[in-house]
Amino acid sequence: MKSLASFSFAFFCISLLPSFSSSSIVFQGFTWASYEKAGGFYNYLKTQVPLIADLGVDYVWLPPPSNAHPDGPQGYLPKRLYDLDTSKYGNKEELKSLIAAFRERGVKCIADIVINHRMAERLDERGLSIFEGGTPDDRLDWNVSEICSSDTKFKGAGNPDTGMDWGDAPDIDHINPRVQRELSDWMNWLKSDVGFVGWRFDMVLGYAPRFTKIYLDNTKPEFAVGELFEAVALGSDGKPLANQDPHRAKLVQWVQDAGGAVTTFDFTTKMVLGAAVQGELWRMKDANGKPPGMIGTDPSHAVTLVDNHDTLSQRIWPFPDGKTMLGYAYILTHPGHPSIFYDHYIDWLEQRAPIKKLTEIRKRNGISPTSSINILAADADLYMAEIDKKIVVKIGPNGDLKNLLPQNAVLATSGQDFAVWELH
Ligand SMILES: *[C@@H]1O[C@H](CO)[C@@H](O)[C@H](O)[C@H]1NC(C)=O
Repeated sequence: MKSLASFSFAFFCISLLPSFSSSSIVFQGFTWASYEKAGGFYNYLKTQVPLIADLGVDYVWLPPPSNAHPDGPQGYLPKRLYDLDTSKYGNKEELKSLIAAFRERGVKCIADIVINHRMAERLDERGLSIFEGGTPDDRLDWNVSEICSSDTKFKGAGNPDTGMDWGDAPDIDHINPRVQRELSDWMNWLKSDVGFVGWRFDMVLGYAPRFTKIYLDNTKPEFAVGELFEAVALGSDGKPLANQDPHRAKLVQWVQDAGGAVTTFDFTTKMVLGAAVQGELWRMKDANGKPPGMIGTDPSHAVTLVDNHDTLSQRIWPFPDGKTMLGYAYILTHPGHPSIFYDHYIDWLEQRAPIKKLTEIRKRNGISPTSSINILAADADLYMAEIDKKIVVKIGPNGDLKNLLPQNAVLATSGQDFAVWELH
């Protein structure tokens, strides 16, 4: 009896681990300028809930919710983490009401967790940083003891940083057990009191992945994704040299080092695809005949994207102008967890219908993060692939499909330089 009980207990625990192979489509629910929205962004986004829910997405990633320094109204220079009432996006009740409206439509919300760095509330008489948590008690009321010692600019007195420094703000010492405990408590409060179910970890290059694992273990999100944003070396010799391999290997390694119950943005796919749609579609097949991005090696942990609030809004590695739909034709038909960016669906009205069409095709055919892929062509002007023996996608200006299209293919959607067929 006892061994049977412990066996079923073990089985139960395993089945509770986050399963990242089930289909998840993520919607980035804001852009860089969203904080400027008249009447408050949370209130505005609530009016867009039906439109976003109708798209069939599973998760909406919302901006950093906390009180922030005026130099970073977007929320990426957070100060009083528990204070959700003075965010430029709106107050706590408006945020809760927005999350509830999404939930009613079957969409769950992910919080943007900015914990590499944090702005002080003020300096004490010695010029040392004093942090305030935003509660009447002393939770998250820190001082220089919680700043990395390597951050000499902010007179840090903690342990050395375990990752990259963010120059404009004190870097937080994640080795400090108080930091680990109080950040975990705050994240669990975002779940229990506000209604978030998961996390988008900002700037994970800023601290070692073993700390991400601690925050995941302590908070057990339903879905989590880390932002490891680094440039890829594209090469320019016209040959698929697979020089994207170290870039995607680093993404896969980060997921493993963070314990595996997390995904990461597939910036390799984003950057290689951005080059490929400019007449270099040969890039979309690696030396093993697989996709060149993280989806070619570890698709169940990859969140694919075309652009985001950094790459498009601030033009840091933007997808080429006029080619956005080619990006969506690729990520919405391919393995991985596709994400759809706010601007592309909310602001660019002409793209709403084509993006929705591709999303419907993905769902109708059960394309999943681990769907199989057979690349039929990867030439300069033509990319073609069959996914799960259910759909075929073609990208590129070349309309001569060289008899590559299966006999039973029926056109499902098409646009400038792309087409998708369903196999009947
Ligand atoms: C920081 O705060 C702790 C109490 O949390 C205190 O013991 C310590 O002296 C403070 N350090 C400085 C430099 O003020």
